[in-house]
Amino acid sequence: MTYPLRTLQEDGDAAHRIVIVLDQTKLPRETAFVRLTSLEEAAHAIRVMQVRGAPLIGATAAYGVALGLAQAADDARLSTVLETLGATRPTAVNLHWALARMKGALAKLPASERRAAAWAEARAIAREDEAANAAIGRNGLPVLQQIAARKGRVEAMTHCNAGWLATVAHGTAISPIYAAHDAGIDIHVWVSETRPRNQGLLTAWELKQAGIPHTLIADNAAGLLMMQGKVDCVIVGADRIAANGDTANKVGTYLKALAAQAHGVPFYVAAPLSTIDFACPSGSAIPIEERSADEMGVTTSRVANPAFDVTPAGLITGIITEHDLRAADALAGLKPA
Ligand code: MRU
Repeated sequence: MTYPLRTLQEDGDAAHRIVIVLDQTKLPRETAFVRLTSLEEAAHAIRVMQVRGAPLIGATAAYGVALGLAQAADDARLSTVLETLGATRPTAVNLHWALARMKGALAKLPASERRAAAWAEARAIAREDEAANAAIGRNGLPVLQQIAARKGRVEAMTHCNAGWLATVAHGTAISPIYAAHDAGIDIHVWVSETRPRNQGLLTAWELKQAGIPHTLIADNAAGLLMMQGKVDCVIVGADRIAANGDTANKVGTYLKALAAQAHGVPFYVAAPLSTIDFACPSGSAIPIEERSADEMGVTTSRVANPAFDVTPAGLITGIITEHDLRAADALAGLKPA
């Protein structure tokens, strides 16, 4: 599968290196790019969701560290940079995972070596994300092949955007769908619009570029479609998976999981290992981002806008990572020793 654009790329020479990101606040109406030249611009891009999606947020934060060390790289500056980026978005653990990894790589070095090392580590994180997501596609493909072998075709449902736009490349939940399409499987995708920010429109845009049949639905139509037998499986991404398999993903995911269980539809979560937070025992410990009331487009009533919800592990048929597909309550074996 080839993708028409890059979500994130480096530009410039060693002395003036910057990062260029695809501005996702403009899609799908307009294709525009933003130049990130400083810590502040990287933090802003994450906060206002010019870049979004857990894996892409993580990679952008890593590059944000490199940008933030351009003028100074002493301990005080490193702390400021890590704190500034760490405060941008709370739920997607990839952000915090990437910052911890950058800290681990840089804090032990003399300040004079940190800047070059930061670019190298950010580059490694981006490359690894791309490879992990490709492997998620391969590991999720058998699920879709089995459905296709049984029924001749596949009706998949997804929520939010967990395609290549949400990552450095390939996507997470959509990666197996791309792999299935590449393998010649007849697949159609139900895409929920994902109120209030409509990330489903990004998924529809991606699938259209790839020539994959899809249908956009209102979020609340998902239950009916499952009841009518029109959905063979649900595949979603994740922003943070707790050690017990409870999974935070874009708000609305939990309702889909409940409906899927009620109607016997298998429900899969696809995410790289960087999305698993082994320090977080269960879903109740996952911080849920509350976003601005403005996103709801309503001024006449009081508004609550939690951006994520938590799907209990018991509702999840399997979790697909770059390592394998396994039960949500069997993540312990994935933890590095
Ligand atoms: O708020 P966003 O758009 O950054 O939300 C994150 C997501 O894209 C989804 O929750 C996604 O399913 C997980 S990230 C691949």
